[in-house]
Amino acid sequence: MKSTFKEIPDEYKITSLVNQNTYLIGGELKEWKGANAAVYSTISSTEDYKPTLLGTVPDLTEDEAIEALNASSKAYGRGQGLWPTMKVEGRIAAMEKFVVQMKTKRTEIVKLLMWEIGKALPDSEKEFDRTVDYIYDTIEDYKQMDRNSAKFEKNSGVHAHIRRGPLGIVLCLGPYNYPLNETFALLIPALIMGNTVIFKPAKHGVLLLSPLLEAFQNSFPAGVVNIIYGRGRTLATPIMKTGLVDVLALIGNSKSANAIQANHPQKNRLRLVLGLEAKNPAIVLPDADLDLAIDECIAGTTSFNGQRCTALKIVYVHEEIVAEFNKRFAEKVDGLKLGNPWESGVTLTPLPEPGKPAYIQELIDDATDKGAKIINKKGGETTENYIFPAVLYPVSKDSRVFDEEQFGPVIPIVSFKNIQEPLDDMAASNYGQQVSVFGSEVKTLAPLIDTLVNLVCRVNLNSSCQRGPDVYPFTGRKDSAVATLSVHDALRSFSIRTFLASKDTAYNNAILQELLDKKSSNFISTDYIL
Ligand code: G3H
Repeated sequence: MKSTFKEIPDEYKITSLVNQNTYLIGGELKEWKGANAAVYSTISSTEDYKPTLLGTVPDLTEDEAIEALNASSKAYGRGQGLWPTMKVEGRIAAMEKFVVQMKTKRTEIVKLLMWEIGKALPDSEKEFDRTVDYIYDTIEDYKQMDRNSAKFEKNSGVHAHIRRGPLGIVLCLGPYNYPLNETFALLIPALIMGNTVIFKPAKHGVLLLSPLLEAFQNSFPAGVVNIIYGRGRTLATPIMKTGLVDVLALIGNSKSANAIQANHPQKNRLRLVLGLEAKNPAIVLPDADLDLAIDECIAGTTSFNGQRCTALKIVYVHEEIVAEFNKRFAEKVDGLKLGNPWESGVTLTPLPEPGKPAYIQELIDDATDKGAKIINKKGGETTENYIFPAVLYPVSKDSRVFDEEQFGPVIPIVSFKNIQEPLDDMAASNYGQQVSVFGSEVKTLAPLIDTLVNLVCRVNLNSSCQRGPDVYPFTGRKDSAVATLSVHDALRSFSIRTFLASKDTAYNNAILQELLDKKSSNFISTDYIL
């Protein structure tokens, strides 16, 4: 296969490097004089293939990691800090200040998204816009949450003013496939609920945060957001070992989540907000609308080259229709356009991880050794930065690609006779995020849906799996997630119910009345925030 190189339009050429030589700790953008890590794109700027140098980021050490922890700890001040005790309006104002500045950085961030992770232009723009919307929706939801709790209630002679309070110090680690959106879907709710954060960007998709550092610095009080760069293990391990982290917020892999948690000495102190890997199946029933099922399975398996936790990672097709499905599906996969992210109409784009094509090749070799065939003509064709999606059929259940989350362009297909087969596999799997079911006969669908909802957390009827709309709950069973994210649920995940209780006595009531009248407590408020 020919390399994806084509002349790069001027607006997308890399004309200057992003040399990020500062990191944000305690409200200060500190200059780093130590070692740096080079950031390369797997996209070539020249016809002879060569990764493109995009810039550098600090390769910080354990010392800076602990400095960041101390800064966030100071800002939290054991719950007495300015940020965790601030009135809701104050935190909202800070967030609004941030998002206004963020919006001015769209062009730079979208360009870096394309170069750093190879995401196609429309998807990169969507990631940016979706994140901005997420911030505004979070602000609105937080206001509503505040309005709902702006009251007292009385039960069994006790008045209560019940709200949600922050948890403390959050260590936030985002993924490379949505380095802006997924990361901010953790960071923003964590911050607005009054927590303080240490944030380490993913290895790929790191420079795109540079345009936002100053906005973080000037929008939030010192130490509320600390941004550090370097290797996850070097930085996260010493931070966790202190036992001072209250929440591990991570989108990534369950093995790394387990390894990081294991360092924390106080297991019950540590709350977890984790979005982890998945192996979402598509199940195509014999009465499915095949055109629709094929289109949705194409989108589900190939969008962003399968590098989505919600991607369809295994396709079950009923044996009565599998021949027809495979023929049409394989042709459609071969019709997908491969190119650089800014080229119009591309759906397949360079893979940001240099080792990914070789890993995908291993999965293909293993599956074909065990009896599968590559059923599309272009399947497995390789360039320096890509491997064309191989549609594999029939994939045996002892193949690696049957179990492993491939997170890349390879599509295993399995046929089934009895619906119990995919259901048994799902029950035995260590994952349980979502499923797509394609069919129309209600008699079959009804009991199937009743079972599937207990195996995963979202059943998509005649459509591929996805996280959005972001107001819907995003979670998973087993090794696929801990806690629930959505605009609303994330605010809950990063906070805890806490309240003032006061016996209904004349003595207490007089005090309560005065607290309300004087409005001198930031926690006690019956105001309606507009
Ligand atoms: O990587 C996992 C993402 O949450 C998937 O989100 O379904 O919107 O692509 P998405």
